[in-house]
Amino acid sequence: MKLLRIDSSARRSSVSRQLTGRFVEAWQQEHPDGTVIERDLASTAIPHISDEWAQAIHANPAAVTPEQKKVLQLSDALVDELVQAETIVIGAPMYNFAISAPLKAWIDQIVRVGKTVLFVASGPQGILKNKKVYVITSRGGAFRPGTPTERFDYQEPYLRHILAFIGLTGVTFIHAENQKPGPQAEIAKAAAIAQIREVASEAATSASR
Ligand SMILES: Cc1cc2nc3c(=O)[nH]c(=O)nc-3n(C[C@H](O)[C@H](O)[C@H](O)COP(=O)(O)O)c2cc1C
Repeated sequence: MKLLRIDSSARRSSVSRQLTGRFVEAWQQEHPDGTVIERDLASTAIPHISDEWAQAIHANPAAVTPEQKKVLQLSDALVDELVQAETIVIGAPMYNFAISAPLKAWIDQIVRVGKTVLFVASGPQGILKNKKVYVITSRGGAFRPGTPTERFDYQEPYLRHILAFIGLTGVTFIHAENQKPGPQAEIAKAAAIAQIREVASEAATSASR
């Protein structure tokens, strides 16, 4: 069994990073022989999509040049990590009501025609199958359904859509909200940790079925 852990906060002691760490601990207890692939996007230099990159992904595989192979090297490695893992945990801080730039850069590298999505007569078809994804967000405010700021959440709807686009439809969100300094932050973090323990054991049960 393989777990891919993705962190995307700029802060080393970030809340989302602490929580993905808790997920890994809980997952390892259920899978003592499992392998964890760590991908910290704060320390991975992911370039913006370039003209060369866009041409390389559409090149005939039989005619890809050594330069194009080099341009796609990181993208290929990131896709490979995703393909290998049965379980994926993504730490996603909310920045400006959406996701962090490194997480967007990662998405730009892993949404690949022919590798993670196909375009068929009926439209786009995600290629990745049978994977469980857990997205752990950390936010200064509160955006859950029913809150006055619900409509400003451009994080969960976007992530749900783009993950489903590549076939990742089994996605569970765990939100650590109200993470601005104050008493609510610890309470919300503890609730997220309790939820993480619960889903990690659920993930183990469904994987062993
Ligand atoms: C650049 C920046 C932008 C932020 N934008 C928002 C925001 O739009 N809404 C919000 O609720 N919190 C916002 N926050 C607060 C973060 O979501 C909060 O600190 C969260 O804990 C960040 O995740 P992390 O602890 O994993 O870094 C922002 C923080 C930073 C540093």
